[in-house]
Amino acid sequence: MSTHHKLIIGNCMSMEEIPDETVHLVVTSPPYFNAPFDYKGLFKSYGQYLGVLRKVAKELYRVLADGRIFFLNIDDMLIDGEKFPIAADATRILLDAGFRYRDRIIWKKPEGYLRISRRSGVILQNPYPMYFYPDNLLESIIIFQKGRFNYRLISEEIREKSKIDTKEFQDKKWYMTLWEMNNVMPGSPLEKDIAAFPEELPYRAIKLFSYVGETVLDPFAGSGTTMKIARQLGRNSIGIEIKKSLIPTIKEKLGFNGQKTLTDNKDTFEVIQRSKGWIE
Ligand SMILES: C[S@@+](CC[C@H](N)C(=O)[O-])C[C@H]1O[C@@H](n2cnc3c(N)ncnc32)[C@H](O)[C@@H]1O
Repeated sequence: MSTHHKLIIGNCMSMEEIPDETVHLVVTSPPYFNAPFDYKGLFKSYGQYLGVLRKVAKELYRVLADGRIFFLNIDDMLIDGEKFPIAADATRILLDAGFRYRDRIIWKKPEGYLRISRRSGVILQNPYPMYFYPDNLLESIIIFQKGRFNYRLISEEIREKSKIDTKEFQDKKWYMTLWEMNNVMPGSPLEKDIAAFPEELPYRAIKLFSYVGETVLDPFAGSGTTMKIARQLGRNSIGIEIKKSLIPTIKEKLGFNGQKTLTDNKDTFEVIQRSKGWIE
């Protein structure tokens, strides 16, 4: 079965190219407000940031098919000593948009990750009360659902083709609300300057919440990690990305930059560049 992959260059506050109820799963990680290293000063205010999330939530509810899942990797952000409750505010926004709050998973990164963000060092220099800032190893994955899923809509053949490997499920401990996954190494060439999530994250989401031949959307596509794994797993994908300069990265990550693909299938890749709303 061949798959189709569509990259839309533009702002995901509008998803005009995507008809209602045609997406079967959304997996994404939006910018974390004005994250000091990745998005410093991107938004004028926290209110403006939440306004963007509100518009995206409305569009996602429209394009998702009934019963389907929105798998959101997001977390609170500490800026100049103040923590912004992004996970809680995003949850409220998605509930207001009509989604049901289905579950929350905590993603734990390996302890080596702390080399990058050692905030607890403050107390070693000032070993007194009130200097405590914990190092953060965790991110949230919040799972929302649009209504309830009708299992009878899926044919027996597709069910079998999409079967989950229960050995992998058990061995890698997918069954818990704590997922231990490596983060993407800073400096990996295809994810340079992009706060990419590890392939393991969309891999689990796509296996657990979509069937072969369906369509997975990532409205904040970044380097195209979700799209790549969707292709690997025999799903179609749609990515929306505001930065036009990421087209070659995404194309390469998905394996559409001219090199021979490992499989002999007829998968296709298409770029739609809007007339406005994108940045270089
Ligand atoms: C956290 S990164 C996503 C990384 C992605 N999960 C990956 O693995 O590469 C967020 C991405 O969203 C893009 N972005 C930010 N605002 C956007 C918007 N309004 N519409 C579309 N893309 C946007 C950024 O340029 C960035 O590439």
